[in-house]
Amino acid sequence: MKDISELLGCRYPVIQGAMGVICNPEFVAAVSEAGGYGLLATAFLTDPGKLEAQVAAVKKLTDKPFGANLMAVNPKSLEFAEVLADAGVGAVTTSAGSPKRLVAYLKERGVKVLHVVASVANARKAEASGVDAVIAEGSESGGVQGFNGASTMVLVPMVVDAVKVPVVAAGGIGDSRGYRAAFALGAKGVQVGTRFIASKECIAHQNYKNALIRAEETDTRVLNMEWAQVRVVHTPLVERMTEGRDKANFSAMEASLEDAWVGGNLEANTIPAGQITGMIREVLSVREIIEEMVR
Ligand SMILES: Cc1cc2nc3c(=O)[nH]c(=O)nc-3n(C[C@H](O)[C@H](O)[C@H](O)COP(=O)(O)O)c2cc1C
Repeated sequence: MKDISELLGCRYPVIQGAMGVICNPEFVAAVSEAGGYGLLATAFLTDPGKLEAQVAAVKKLTDKPFGANLMAVNPKSLEFAEVLADAGVGAVTTSAGSPKRLVAYLKERGVKVLHVVASVANARKAEASGVDAVIAEGSESGGVQGFNGASTMVLVPMVVDAVKVPVVAAGGIGDSRGYRAAFALGAKGVQVGTRFIASKECIAHQNYKNALIRAEETDTRVLNMEWAQVRVVHTPLVERMTEGRDKANFSAMEASLEDAWVGGNLEANTIPAGQITGMIREVLSVREIIEEMVR
């Protein structure tokens, strides 16, 4: 396989990482129109009908391929998988837990599965469960991650050596240099999160985008959520949380995520980002970001 675009049916081997409430249909369609592989997110969805509506909305905006991310731990994920298979979505990503149950169902319905892993052991397990590719996500990435994760530079070549399925690199990729480095490490594509938040089409609030533009590479913090950890931008709220002056109780704060990410209230909740935020200096269109990356 030349690269992962062959598997996904898109022009470039660039997957837009799922990012909760900011992956609205317009944003996903813009990524796919620009030649990448747009992904809807289901992390905060409870109603399969909402996903069905989002899929229909993307289809109205583009005839290019797109997918969605399924969280394996979410008890609703099989219902979401059914919606995606019925809609003829070609490939999905799975993360946060064993993909086994979802792979069995999706493969039978002809949907390709790419599973996100943060270790060689989980890459092997994912391959054994029948996934079409793995996404090796290094610990510099934004958002939720496990404990004791290895960086992209360490993880990707080790996963490439350990499995036969194609490997996509995620974590810390923000421009053409990161993109080329991923391929030099043996990856067949990249998944990009943080860089896409600072795009014209992303509905993240300008306060979120400005925080990414202002942040240096040392300005993210990893917060402990007990079952996992999350890499976020260092804001005054995060400062208080790390000092123990504010409770880092994320399950109780989920309702306020939209308030922070889309509403721009950075006191309502944390704003996830990877260390590559240090490199982001301006808001660009998703097309500009993708074309610079693959040039
Ligand atoms: C705000 C935000 C939300 C995220 N939500 C999800 C999610 O719902 N599911 C998932 O598999 N990954 C999620 N991620 C991880 C991204 O999909 C992607 O793998 C990661 O951002 C890549 O690293 P980078 O941020 O260095 O580009 C999220 C990342 C961010 C920044």
